[in-house]
Amino acid sequence: MKHLINLLDLAVEDVQAILQHAAALKAECRAGRRTPLLAGRVLAQVFEKPSLRTRVSFEAAMQQLGGSSIFLSSKDAGLGGRESIEDVARVLTSYCDVLVLRTFSHTLIETFARVGRCPVVNGLSDVSHPCQALTDLFTMQEVCGTLEGRTLVYVGDGNNVAVSLAEACAMLGAAFVIAAPEGYQLTPDFLARLQSRFPHCSVTQTTDPREAVSEADVIYTDVWTSMGQEAEKEQRQRIFAAYQVNAALLKAAPSTARFMHCLPARRGQEVTDEVMDSPQSVVFQQAENRLHLAKGLFVWQLT
Ligand code: CP
Ligand code: NVA
Repeated sequence: MKHLINLLDLAVEDVQAILQHAAALKAECRAGRRTPLLAGRVLAQVFEKPSLRTRVSFEAAMQQLGGSSIFLSSKDAGLGGRESIEDVARVLTSYCDVLVLRTFSHTLIETFARVGRCPVVNGLSDVSHPCQALTDLFTMQEVCGTLEGRTLVYVGDGNNVAVSLAEACAMLGAAFVIAAPEGYQLTPDFLARLQSRFPHCSVTQTTDPREAVSEADVIYTDVWTSMGQEAEKEQRQRIFAAYQVNAALLKAAPSTARFMHCLPARRGQEVTDEVMDSPQSVVFQQAENRLHLAKGLFVWQLT
């Protein structure tokens, strides 16, 4: 079964196939055509956290492809102890063709994939956000022309989004640089795993955002406080204050560098209005591309 739980579970050819499907479906959509490649298919989504982009883009993607979708909050699905997780997984996956989950605990998604009967997609967990990173590399390819030899510089928290971006860059031949404070960087364990799978990949960590962006093709940031970390909000605002992507940091980068953010953005914290709204920003192109990527993913999984 073609699950998407972490990018490293896929072969590079799989990732390339998803991006190719996404590009073809975006072109088709732009030309005003929507081929019902997934007529009669059913998507189910169960989310423990809020979502605008992920939930709606997956739902719209399935409907544009001729299928239909069902959304359940985790409470409605009974993830809170009404019955065992395994039983929920067995029952739910017998009703649908593909299941997207957004969870606090990554292991919950793994459990669904282990016992379920249909492909499972990680729509964000505490560990990773693979669909976002695939979309981001798709967008980077659109704006930079190629990925090989390009550099994505991530400034901020070494979180779920950073992990998936590092994996996507390693798989697709882009260099990945992360500028994060001590204690919020990618773990040595994760880096060792990445390097052992892709010995020639370029992944660099630093604590200095100015030095990091000096050779950036893309500057990327995400919120300092992810969903579920709200209790650490004040502490994180202090720790990450020097990591704001603002006009001064943008000036330290090549003038051709683009700005990316997975959204939602906390304007005035990790990024200023000036950067979000600058001509270098491609954040809304990224957001739109979630739809095209979702379609590419479903077509790869289900046809
Ligand atoms: N980028 C992203 O996953 O956004 P949502 O939380 O709105 O789904
Ligand atoms: N790192 C953020 C991403 C939101 C799309 C979070 O987990 O809340």
